[in-house]
Amino acid sequence: MPFLDWYLRRSLATWLLLHSLVLMSFCFQPATTLPKGCHSSEEDGYKTLRCSNAQITEVPKDIPNDTNRLYLDFNQITYLPSDAFRNLPVLMELDLSHNSLGHLDINALRGLSDHLLSLDLSSNKLVSVNKEVFANLKARTNLSGNPWMCDCDLQELIRMVELDPTSSNGIVCASSVLEEHAGKPFLQVVKDIDLCNTYKRTTDVAMLVTMFGWFAMVISYLVYYVRQNQEDARRHLEYLKSLPSKQRHNEEPSTLSTVV
Ligand SMILES: *[C@@H]1O[C@H](CO)[C@@H](O)[C@H](O)[C@H]1NC(C)=O
Ligand SMILES: *[C@@H]1O[C@H](CO)[C@@H](O)[C@H](O)[C@H]1NC(C)=O
Repeated sequence: MPFLDWYLRRSLATWLLLHSLVLMSFCFQPATTLPKGCHSSEEDGYKTLRCSNAQITEVPKDIPNDTNRLYLDFNQITYLPSDAFRNLPVLMELDLSHNSLGHLDINALRGLSDHLLSLDLSSNKLVSVNKEVFANLKARTNLSGNPWMCDCDLQELIRMVELDPTSSNGIVCASSVLEEHAGKPFLQVVKDIDLCNTYKRTTDVAMLVTMFGWFAMVISYLVYYVRQNQEDARRHLEYLKSLPSKQRHNEEPSTLSTVV
């Protein structure tokens, strides 16, 4: 009996101890729980949240607000909604590469303009993006590896974005307003042609062709007219030649008479 009593008391004490340990561990856990599939670390003095390759389909809502670097690469994010990264006032680096992004809300990157230094949107499914998405953004941006539609909108967008210089050749036209550009690097295409002026160019060409047509008509009419006149002139000359032989006979005595 005393043994059983001792045993029970002891197990009760152990249980209480365990219980309080569990409670304590709850109390000392950081107040912010990390998003699923993410782990946080301090790299080079920067708070880094890595959520790479975590089967994430949308931007997590509970990202700690002191995050400096955020890696969301190799996931299945398809869309960036309005204010996708709000309440991240010290975010410097954002990696969204290797996702399925096809659409960015016009306000998707709102609030990042003062502090974001690097933005990776490479290897997504971006065909066209409203240039206002990047308004005021100073971040070096990687836009390579997307199925871009090369048109005036893209030209204006790229004029606005601070492109990562080593990535600029990776911006390739999957399609284009002019078919012959498909498969070519965007920067090579815009070296030869202003994509915002192709309409004007085609009208210019049409104008030139029309003017050339008119010019050719005028020239051929002139040539025809001159030839016709030459013919007329020759005929007239021949007529004159045949005519004056009589006239000369008539005139000769008169000249003679005047000489006399
Ligand atoms: C994060 O949020 C907390 C609580 O709202 C706030 O006290 C803190 O200043 C914020 N941190 C940053 C870096 O803004
Ligand atoms: C840009 O993205 C491409 C494709 O993901 C990658 O190969 C390249 O290294 C990136 N460039 C920079 C400078 O990050």
